[in-house]
This record gives sequence, C-alpha cells and structure tokens, in this order.
Amino acid sequence: MMETASNKRAQINQEVRRRYSAAGFVSWLYTSIRLKLAPIVKVEEYVPKSGKILDLGCGNGMFANILLLGSPQRSVKGVDLDAGRIRAAQRIASGNSSLEFWVGDAGSFPLEQYDAITVIDLLHHMEFAEQTKLLKKLYERLADGAVLIIKDLEKAPKWKYWFHYVQDSISYRKPLYFRSAGEMETTLRRIGYTVEIVSLASGYMHPHVLYCCRRDAGN
Ligand SMILES: C[S@@+](CC[C@H](N)C(=O)[O-])C[C@H]1O[C@@H](n2cnc3c(N)ncnc32)[C@H](O)[C@@H]1O
Repeated sequence: MMETASNKRAQINQEVRRRYSAAGFVSWLYTSIRLKLAPIVKVEEYVPKSGKILDLGCGNGMFANILLLGSPQRSVKGVDLDAGRIRAAQRIASGNSSLEFWVGDAGSFPLEQYDAITVIDLLHHMEFAEQTKLLKKLYERLADGAVLIIKDLEKAPKWKYWFHYVQDSISYRKPLYFRSAGEMETTLRRIGYTVEIVSLASGYMHPHVLYCCRRDAGN
C-alpha cells in the first residue's frame, strides 16, 4: 500500500510520543501538547532527506528525532542553552549515533558545513538585534545548495498572535520578540537570502509560519 504524507506524519507522531513517554509522564505530556499545538512534524517535509543538519534551539530534541524518523539518511546535531533539556535529549537519543546534542548558545556555537540548519521556535526568544546577527552569521556560513529552515510565529491574525503571546509569556516569563512575516521577509532579503514563506497556521490556534531560506545565487 502506498504511504501517504498524512499516514507518515501520523506514524512519526506516534513514535515520537512513544519515545518521550519512556522518559516519564511530564516529558510525554509536554511532547504530546507540543505536537498537538504546532505543525512540527509537517516542518520535517521541508528539510533535505539526507545530509548533516544543525538544529539550533533544539530543546528536548523532539524535532531532531522527527528528522531521523522522516529519513534515516540524515544526521542531526542539536544545540540548546538549557542544560536540562539537552540532558533529556541525550537520554532519549542514547545509542543512536546519528543524533548528538550539545549545550550552547545559538549565537556563538561554532558552525561547520551543514546541508540544512533548522531554527524551530527559537528566534522570538532572542532580542531583535541578536536575531539579525544570528541570521547574518548563518548566511555567511551557509553552503551553496544548503537551506535554512526557520519555523516561528508571526503577528497575524491578531487573535492567534495574542493567544500565543499570553501563553508564551506565562510559560517563559521573559520578554518575547516577534516579527510579522513581512518584517521577517524584509530582514532576510536585506541580508541576501532568497525566501519562500509558507503559512502553517491553518487548523492551529497559533500563527505558525515557515521561512525556507537559501543564499541568493548571485551572491
Ligand atoms: C520554544 S522552545 C523550542 C524548542 C524546540 N526547537 C522545539 O521545537 O521543540 C525554544 C528553545 O530555545 C532555547 N533557546 C533560547 N535562547 C537560546 C539561545 N540563545 N541559544 C540556544 N538555545 C536557546 C530554549 O532553551 C528553548 O529550549
């Protein structure tokens, strides 16, 4: 029987929840809620099927696991500031040589050559100037043919934005820095990226948006 995209997504979703349930109830609950509220599994489809991938702000490693479930020809290095989340990611990945996790700051983590760099719901936790600095640094190091995949939240429609803003402010209790999709597109194009914007908000209560960025062939 032919495997449809939605069957594959459902299988990945189920397997991720199974893996994280082995790390305890809280881990299972967090992962299940995140998978319900955000189209993280769908984002996997925009990432190259093989090669080396860097996941900045990887949290507990959920997206890195999704990437490997999507294609075993990938290897993923995840980086996050939060040592507790990295320990959880390492525990869950133990024995899988295609996954590695490091504690580090996305802004200063040393960059090798990657086929893709993924930045999933990280940018709005960084001040605007830091976001721009990181995006410039990634542009300078992005190999020809490689892609930068940014998944974030934008500011429209307003009710989805405010719903998310209140929820994230309560969870993180730190300032948050959202850009509208238009502002983000302008920032990315000014740096030199060619950008494809994909709205992933349909069917979700949050204004999810994806930016697929490449080096402009002329630069
Ligand atoms: C909303 S969570 C997203 C986690 C993961 N990408 C996911 O989709 O499940 C944001 C993550 O960014 C991390 N973070 C925030 N600032 C960071 C920085 N400067 N460098 C690396 N990680 C950072 C936080 O610790 C947190 O795990």
